[in-house]
Order: sequence, then structure tokens, then C-alpha cells
Amino acid sequence: MRFLAFGMLALLVSGKSVAVDEDASTIKQRIGSGDPATGRETSASERCQECHGQDGNSDDGRIPSHAGQYAGYLIKQLRDFQSGARKHPVMSVVAEDLSEADMADIAAYFASQKRRQDNSAGGNAAGGNLFSNGDQARAIEACANCHGEGGKGRSADNVTYPAIGGQHKTYLSGQLVNWKLGERTNSPGGVMNKIAKALTDDEIEALSTYLSGL
Ligand code: HEC
Ligand code: HEC
Repeated sequence: MRFLAFGMLALLVSGKSVAVDEDASTIKQRIGSGDPATGRETSASERCQECHGQDGNSDDGRIPSHAGQYAGYLIKQLRDFQSGARKHPVMSVVAEDLSEADMADIAAYFASQKRRQDNSAGGNAAGGNLFSNGDQARAIEACANCHGEGGKGRSADNVTYPAIGGQHKTYLSGQLVNWKLGERTNSPGGVMNKIAKALTDDEIEALSTYLSGL
């Protein structure tokens, strides 16, 4: 028992140091070409911080945290709100007048911040299994294949897969339901609509519980 506890402690400690010493090229890729210092000011003057949090960690479960998110993903969403490819009564208006430079800087600032895990209770075996392994029988691909280990997101072949680990549970389940019902349709090739349509409501709940605890 004591041995087990020690093993887990070592794992926790080493897990932490990996996060702190995250490889420089990954951080650079996540932040992109914008300027975080300018973005800190623009996100304050444009009032993004009032909803999304001063450091990109929001206090409202319906409002996504942007801390640690890939800048390329945030910029794509802002462009999608501008074009109408993604619809939301508040964000469509808020995004309307942002310039490309503002978007790059704001996204770089939030990407450079550390995400605060939403749900420290975490843990959900069914959700964890779907995340890591998917379900071949129903052609559900493992989320981790695209969203990366720990749901930290990744960028590959010109597609940016958002960080979903540690995100608010309420926001995550809301988006999965939106994908499932076809109320959100802006993923490349409709990939998220296909995946979410195959998920049951219980699976969406399990995945959101698991992911928010990462
Ligand atoms: C009044 C509150 C409010 C303000 C102000 C606001 N947002 Fe949002 N934002 C939201 C909500 C709510 C959502 C979730 C939309 C949904 O459910 O689809 C969101 C979603 C987003 C997303 C999509 C994130 C994702 O993970 O897909 C981005 C990017 C974003 N906001 C950026 C900004 C920026 C940049 C600003 C400032 C220019 C801003 N927001 C100001 C409430 C706000
Ligand atoms: C084949 C790749 C792929 C797989 C597998 C995949 N996703 Fe995604 N997912 C994406 C992409 C790409 C986006 C970004 C869509 C966009 O640009 O709007 C996304 C977006 C999301 C979002 C929205 C995040 C936000 O901040 O709004 C959630 C939630 C999500 N995926 C959950 C999942 C879950 C849960 C699974 C597993 C059951 C999964 N995804 C499997 C590619 C994938």
C-alpha cells in the first residue's frame, strides 16, 4: 500500500515536471505568430477577459477557458464566428470587428497562459476508455488520436486539434450535443458531427466528466 502510494506520488511529480518543461517547440507552435504581451492588453480593452477570465480561465462553466489553447484553433473559431460558419449570439457580435492582428495577439496571449483544470474530482472509467480507445465496433475513433495525449491538443497537417483536457464540463457536453444535433458544423469534413452522432447521452456525460478532470 505504502509502495503504491509512493509510486503514484512519483508519477504525479514526474507528470508535473513534464508539463513545466514542456518542449519549447510545442509551446512555440501553440502560441503561433501573435504577440502575447500585446494580446494581454487587447484582450483587456476588447473585454474578452470579462467573460473568458483575466488569464484565460473562465469562472462560468458555459464559457470556455482559452488558457493553454492552441492559438491557431482560437483564430479559426473567431474567423468562423465572423463568417457565420459558427453561430453564437454573443460571440458573433464580439468577433465582428476584430482585425487579423488583434486575433493573432489575443490568441497568443491566451495560448501562453496555464489552464486550470475544471473538475479536480475527475476520473470516469467509461469516458477514459472512449477517449483512449474509441469503439471500433461503432467506428468511433479514439479522441486521443486527434486531440492528443491528455487532451492537450495538437497541430498536424494544417489542422489544429483543440485542447479539450481540463475544459469546463458544462461547455464540453454542450458542444458535443451541438455537434450531435448539427447545431455546430464547422469542423473539417464534418468530422465532429460524425463522431458525436455515434455517442449516446450517457457517453457524452462520461466523456465530459473525464475530460474536465484532465
Ligand atoms: C459576454 C461574454 C463574452 C465575451 C465578452 C467574449 N466571449 Fe468569447 N465566448 C463566450 C461564450 C459564452 C462562448 C461559447 C460559445 C458557444 O457556446 O458556442 C465563447 C466562445 C469563444 C471562442 C470559442 C472557443 C472554443 O473553445 O471553441 C473564442 C475563440 C472566443 N470566445 C474568443 C473571444 C474573444 C477573443 C473575445 C474578446 C474579443 C471574447 N471571446 C469575448 C462569451 C464571451
Ligand atoms: C479525426 C480527428 C478527431 C477525432 C477522432 C475527435 N475529434 Fe474532436 N475535434 C476535431 C477537430 C479538428 C476539432 C476542431 C473543429 C473546429 O475547427 O471547429 C474538434 C473539436 C472538438 C470539440 C470542441 C472544442 C471546443 O473548444 O469547442 C470537442 C468538445 C471535441 N472535439 C471532442 C471530441 C471527443 C470527446 C472525441 C472522441 C469521442 C473527439 N473529439 C474525437 C477532431 C477530432
